[in-house]
Amino acid sequence: MLVLGIESSCDETGVALVDAAGAGVPKLRSQALHSQIEMHQAYGGVVPELASRDHIRRVLPLARHVLGEAKCDLRDVDVVAYTRGPGLAGALLVGAGVACALGAALGKPILGVHHLEGHLLSPFLSVDPPEFPFVALLVSGGHTQLMRVASVGDYELLGETIDDAAGEAFDKSAKLLGLGYPGGPALSKLSEQGRGDAFKLPRPLLHSGNLDFSFAGLKTAVLTQAKKLGSELEAHKADLAASTQAAIVEVLVKKSLAALDQTGEKRIVVAGGVGANRLLREQLNAACAKRGVRVHYPELHLCTDNGAMIAMAAAMRLQAHKEEATEVYTFDVKPR
Ligand code: KG4
Ligand code: ZN
Repeated sequence: MLVLGIESSCDETGVALVDAAGAGVPKLRSQALHSQIEMHQAYGGVVPELASRDHIRRVLPLARHVLGEAKCDLRDVDVVAYTRGPGLAGALLVGAGVACALGAALGKPILGVHHLEGHLLSPFLSVDPPEFPFVALLVSGGHTQLMRVASVGDYELLGETIDDAAGEAFDKSAKLLGLGYPGGPALSKLSEQGRGDAFKLPRPLLHSGNLDFSFAGLKTAVLTQAKKLGSELEAHKADLAASTQAAIVEVLVKKSLAALDQTGEKRIVVAGGVGANRLLREQLNAACAKRGVRVHYPELHLCTDNGAMIAMAAAMRLQAHKEEATEVYTFDVKPR
């Protein structure tokens, strides 16, 4: 079963081909990605209208490339999967519309995939995929969630952010420090030149006794600190960046450990863009090694949005009979 996956929820156009032969973990045949980061950089964030237009320009050439690399004909594709949401409505409509058109033209079924399920299952694209069950820490630009994952489609939400997501905390703090977009990688890079204990920043909900997160107060604390520093900010920017990163990472690590304690699981999967953060990986790896817990990440280039995770999630859902692909060629997107 060959699944063509299309991701277009935000500022990356991703297309990939996954092969789900038999009952084994589906295999990635080929993938291609176009990042719009440069285009949005001038505006300090994603401009939805520009994103949609660029997805339109990129998606078919990327699909052609992916099929060419896998030496496949479009007619070999069995299912066309697309990101149904969450994401930017206009951007989602491009991927959904193209998937629907391809399905209709080929007479092949289509399947809408939840973007977060794509992230969640992305570690299955690595050479050493996890086994069920596991705890999952989903940390992206729009979401921060802890889940217990029993099997494909069997997800129990253990806790989530009550306001900003972890990626949003990185991005907004980076913006306050004038680090541009996307803020997460920039703030993380600058942090390497600073001290994480230089400034005392809040660790919201760290001792709340549940697995929820809150990051909105952190950016306010960063702003207050930046204002206090005034003309001295430039000299202390790396320290403030490092202190911000330390605060976010400490909360993510402690809550993840609490989720492992609560569920008794011995495996944790970290997925979503913030999963690329080096400090998070270092601290979580160290803490989990002490407890005999295995940590799984997607490969670094598959942490942020991509088509492979969408094709993979579709293939795994179909394999697990959680879903029927449909030949009814209407499509919907779910921005929220
Ligand atoms: O999963 P993703 O690509 O898109 C969403 O679904 O939101 O995640 C993007 C988020 C952004 O907030 C970005 O700043 C953050 O992931 N990010 C990072 C790093 N790389 C990406 N945050 C911290 N450190 C990084 N190295
Ligand atoms: Zn994402």
